[in-house]
Amino acid sequence: MAEVRSWQQIPASQLTGIEAFRKDNCKSCHALDGTGSGPDLTKVASRRPNDWLDKHFQQPEDIKGPPSKLSANETRGLITLVTQRDERGLDAWKKRAG
Ligand code: HEC
Repeated sequence: MAEVRSWQQIPASQLTGIEAFRKDNCKSCHALDGTGSGPDLTKVASRRPNDWLDKHFQQPEDIKGPPSKLSANETRGLITLVTQRDERGLDAWKKRAG
């Protein structure tokens, strides 16, 4: 029950990021409570500047495939998600992205 309610309280800006994280290939490199080649994104809020994040989301350096096709809105959502730690968004992110 409490979990259902917390879902409903997730800010829209966080939901966008969660959906984008799922849709894109982030979890192929990033751990959510586990191991991955990239940093565990659930540990700390990112201190990277927005333009670094923006570029990284569009085309992670060592990825061999085509760049991701995130909309500007989705990119903004991801930046919000990784720079503003919100326990409700984070919970949902872990559950849905895994
Ligand atoms: C090809 C593997 C790969 C993919 C795909 C990838 N990342 Fe990364 N990511 C990395 C690596 C490696 C680093 C560390 C880079 C560094 O420290 O210079 C990183 C760093 C980051 C950081 C900075 C962490 C910090 O130190 O604050 C964030 C945030 C991030 N990634 C989010 C994402 C998101 C969101 C996606 C999906 C759109 C994504 N990444 C896709 C490999 C990847």
